[in-house]
Amino acid sequence: MARAEQQRTTDAARRPLDPAAIAELRAIFGPERTLTEEWDRAVYSYDASFKSVLQPGLPDVVVQPASTAEVAAAVRVAAKYRAPVVPRAGASAMTGGSVPHRGGITLDLRRMNRVLEVDLDNLQVLCEPGIIHKDLNERLLPHGFSFPVDPGSTGMATVGGMVANNACGMRAVRYGSTAHYVLGLEVVLASGEVIWTGSPGSRALQSASGLNLTGLFCGSEGTLGVITTLRLKILPKSPARGVVTALFDRLEDAGEGTRLVFRGGIVPSALELMDRAAIRAVNAYKAGLDLPDAEALLLIEIEGQPAGVREAAQTVAQTLGALSTRVQWADDPAEVAALWGARSVLGAAAGLIRPHSTRVATGEDIAVPIARMPETLRAIHAIAERWAIPCTTYGHIGSGNVHSAFVIDPRDQDEVERVLRASDEIHELALAMGGTVTGEHGVGSVRPQFMAREHGPALAAMQAVKAALDPLGIMNPGKLLPAEGSDGV
Ligand code: MLT
Ligand code: ZN
Repeated sequence: MARAEQQRTTDAARRPLDPAAIAELRAIFGPERTLTEEWDRAVYSYDASFKSVLQPGLPDVVVQPASTAEVAAAVRVAAKYRAPVVPRAGASAMTGGSVPHRGGITLDLRRMNRVLEVDLDNLQVLCEPGIIHKDLNERLLPHGFSFPVDPGSTGMATVGGMVANNACGMRAVRYGSTAHYVLGLEVVLASGEVIWTGSPGSRALQSASGLNLTGLFCGSEGTLGVITTLRLKILPKSPARGVVTALFDRLEDAGEGTRLVFRGGIVPSALELMDRAAIRAVNAYKAGLDLPDAEALLLIEIEGQPAGVREAAQTVAQTLGALSTRVQWADDPAEVAALWGARSVLGAAAGLIRPHSTRVATGEDIAVPIARMPETLRAIHAIAERWAIPCTTYGHIGSGNVHSAFVIDPRDQDEVERVLRASDEIHELALAMGGTVTGEHGVGSVRPQFMAREHGPALAAMQAVKAALDPLGIMNPGKLLPAEGSDGV
């Protein structure tokens, strides 16, 4: 079967939901928060993945809980009727993780968006999963604090979704992934029981007690339970920041430059790559910005005290001097904001490199060792050329995470087939380079087939954890892990 046909095939494990389950949910949520009309449910049948364009997944019913107790009640109904439960909020993910390919009950968690407690003295907040990342930071910034992980989709991504996918984004190079900031989680398990990970009564910032269940739920993509409250670490915001912009004649030199920045003793707060196509896409999208034309551009952000920021910027400029064709420095807040504004529109702008076409999220998120970045970048371009598909390359090169944004005409079946083949090759490339098939976007329903190759015997241990916590297999089935004994294709 052709690759595109495989993706379009309806999940064989899909079973119709017992109408009695819907009646029980309606009794809990009332008619307003129990969505059964097809046009309402259709809104929940996709995310930002290309897979969900080829194969939308219609839930049988959507409920909109406003509390942990309501989530637990919905999960108990799901367990009683053996129905899939799929948590969802911003749906900005690019891997089909919140798309209910097997139908069942979708939990729309966007009503659970409260900040419950801001505890500045103890560097933490307590919040619900449906709060949007930007809204959380708007609550913290007036106090001089922030939740420092910064996904490209800050205006859409919810904090619960970031934890469920262990999101990273532009500042992971210095601050690490979302999981580094999760101190504890309230979770509704597949039985409907509610637990707290990370010691329920604790407000400590660290713990060596017990198994690290918090870490287990970070990145579990809704397959082990539903996160209903989060205890998150926050940090004081640095008083100053500036951005070094460096241009290169060769893509490989940008990869090499990245290695040299660290060798120079600098840990930037962001180290982003844009290739020539990405620069052109941003210029087309944001008229007036006029990023300089180059084969590759690095944005290197330094944060800290003003004097230290300037000194570090000079070190970066000197380090890159021999490789780069031009190095510039900006610390005017408006200029810095404009540069990050340009970077943050890239995901949407990428499609502009070709008229009447669309950027598709597929094979877009590999991470490789930094030292192998130069050859990885060249290999990505070679794959795009071999399959004759325009592609922009950009991403969080400082943490080895590179995005390849393919741009196709989705009405052209041959192009669809080619882009899926090219994406498979990108994933294969990641493994060949000693990397991972996903640096930040997650596995969802588009990458389980690579899990055995990437994880080896550790996959069976993951499947055992899944079976122990979700014996009925109702928590977001078909995502993240291939079923035992299957290769996930
Ligand atoms: C980004 O870095 O902009 C995001 O991860 C999304 C994308 O790949 O476009
Ligand atoms: Zn990214």
